[in-house]
Amino acid sequence: MAKYNVVFVLGGPGAGKGTQCENIVRDFGFVHLSAGDLLREERQRPGSKYGEEIEGHIKNGSIVPVQITCSLLRRAMEQSGKDRFLIDGFPRNKDNLDGWNDAMTGVADVKMVLFFNCSEQVCIDRCLDRGKTSGRSDDNLESLKKRIHTYTSSTMPIIDHYRALNLVQEMNGEKTPDEVFADVKKALDSFKL
Ligand code: C5P
Ligand code: MG
Repeated sequence: MAKYNVVFVLGGPGAGKGTQCENIVRDFGFVHLSAGDLLREERQRPGSKYGEEIEGHIKNGSIVPVQITCSLLRRAMEQSGKDRFLIDGFPRNKDNLDGWNDAMTGVADVKMVLFFNCSEQVCIDRCLDRGKTSGRSDDNLESLKKRIHTYTSSTMPIIDHYRALNLVQEMNGEKTPDEVFADVKKALDSFKL
């Protein structure tokens, strides 16, 4: 038996991953780990040797090498002392997926993938709106176009991979946050651990 149970949370930029993860933590007692947040923290950490590399990828909407991201995730999992995790924004491409499988097979079981499906235009509108207050270096139109390209070309195939394994629960991410959460609850209620 693996030590950890994991639900991956995927969807385009602004699809509502973070918002719904907050709801899930409140009602279902998972530990929420956002790969993007962990990378932003590492970027800010004085003495980090990865700061510049991470910032380059974030601005470009490209994906940081999995060794960095997976180590941050694994350390956070170990330090939490808990065993149920919502991992948001990961795996984003084949490098992420392969690196995860290499490092975490037998350590963590992926039980479900929550996929928030949201059109490109809604993603852009939400992130531009968020950009007014988020202070994020990538909530601008130029970075967003790149992020959406990465999502379409690199992340969608990962969702398809998990769909073939019958692990994907797909939600319409364009509904209101409350409506989406009602759908999320239905999906998670079938998830007994
Ligand atoms: O998920 P979030 O929108 O916070 O991710 C922001 C950025 O962090 C991504 O566009 C990407 O550059 C980086 N990231 C990554 N690998 C991940 C998750 C995020 O490189 N698995
Ligand atoms: Mg997020």
